[in-house]
Order: sequence, then structure tokens, then C-alpha cells
Amino acid sequence: MVGEGGAARSGGGPHAAPAIPTTVAPDAGTLASLVSVAAADWIRAHPGGLVCLAAGDTPLPVYARLVALQEAGRVDLRSVFYVGLDEWVGLGYADRGSCLQVMADAFYGPAGIPVERRRVFDGLADPHAECAAVDRWIADHGGIGFTLLGIGLNGHIGFNEPGTPDQDGCVVVDLDDTTKAVSVKYFGAARPVRQGVSVSARTLAKADTVLLMASGAKKAPIIARLRAGADPTEVPAARLLGHPGLHLFLDREADGG
Ligand code: F6R
Repeated sequence: MVGEGGAARSGGGPHAAPAIPTTVAPDAGTLASLVSVAAADWIRAHPGGLVCLAAGDTPLPVYARLVALQEAGRVDLRSVFYVGLDEWVGLGYADRGSCLQVMADAFYGPAGIPVERRRVFDGLADPHAECAAVDRWIADHGGIGFTLLGIGLNGHIGFNEPGTPDQDGCVVVDLDDTTKAVSVKYFGAARPVRQGVSVSARTLAKADTVLLMASGAKKAPIIARLRAGADPTEVPAARLLGHPGLHLFLDREADGG
């Protein structure tokens, strides 16, 4: 069963944060199906729109389902344009766990997205030049219309870390210690990553549709802080609070159940 809403769970007092529209799925598989349908619906309705997709582990089953929906003739994933959300500075496609490797192998390749329809950060290039180039790509495509985000254990979205300046466009970021520690799960070994490049939270918040996805009990504490109206300098995802197109997609564990 899927639960909608969230007001009841968001607390009641006079200073309670406004409830974020939320869908709670019973398990991670159902969650991925629901998110893939929401993404496909947006893509069908916005040919030529610009889509920004997170790497990380959480959305990977969504990408497999989107490819399956395309194979079933229910969506044309090549009808929109894409922009990468973020990248580890110093890593490229040959590096297991780079955002480029993850997204090319999980989505862009299987979905058959032509290179001229996507612009992702090149982690091996100068990060400031990459930011300028990705900013131009976003502007040239009318701004990001739809974004699917995960959330870090520290509340980051993309690589907008606690303390990352709130600014327009793309940002070069010093990675938080939590992010460096978590990175081992992507790389399979410790790698000396220090910086990332990312679309800023402020630019993500200009999208008309912002889906924030979390699964598993380990995400429950940060989701609870977000819903309680955390300070965005401490929980960057809180920069999305109040966005009219923000929707949380959680499984029961991330919901705290
Ligand atoms: C990845 C990204 C990150 C992740 C976040 C959650 O491109 O931007 O913000 O979405 O760290 O990662 P997972 O899904 O691996 O828990």
C-alpha cells in the first residue's frame, strides 16, 4: 500500500514546518516503480525539456525501470535533454563509481541517449571551466524542468554540502567528511577525493518538478530533520523546502516506519 501526504507525521506544534508532499512506498522496489512512472509522465509531457538526474545508489532501480518503460513503448527517453547533477573532481569514466560511469552504464547507454542530448560534468577537466560550460548548457535548454535527487546522510543534494555557498549556477565544492567516508561504497576502495562539481541547490530549485528520493533506515534521521524544517546551512536539502513542485518519495524505512 502506498501512503500519500505526510501532514500527520510532520508534527503539530505552532512552529511545525509545513508538510512536504510525500509518497511512502512499502519497499524500495515499489518506490522505484512509482518514481519511474512519475519521471516518465514528466518526460512524455515535456518533449525537449531538460532533465537532471542524480547518480548514487538510490535511483539506480528507477533507471532500470525507465529503460523498461521505454522498451514497452510507454516513454521516449530520447525526447528530452539531460544535464549531469554532479561529479567527483579528478574522476572520469574509467573510474568505477564516478557519476559519469554510473549514469552512462545505468541509464544513458541502456536508454540510448545520444551524446548530443546530454551534458555531464567531465571530472578530469578544469572544474571551473566545466561549471561555466554546464551553466551554458542549462541556459541554452531553457533551465532544468525536472530533477530526480537523492539525499546524502549529511543532507546534501548533488554535491551541495553543509556550508556550500547558496548561489546560482554550478559550483565547485569542498567535499564534506561524511561524503568522503561514504564514497568508498561507490569506488570499492578509499580514493583521495577532495572536491566535487555540482549544479547548485538554488539552480535545482528553479526546476518545476523536484523529486527527492530516499530508501532505507539509514536515511530516516536526515529525512526527519528535513521534514522538521532544518537550517539549510546544515541540511542543504532544506533549500528545497517550500518549493511548490517538491515531492518526497520514500520507502517505509526512510519514512521512519
Ligand atoms: C549523486 C548525488 C548524491 C547522492 C546522495 C545519496 O549524484 O548527487 O547527492 O544522491 O549522496 O546517495 P545514495 O543514493 O548512494 O545514498
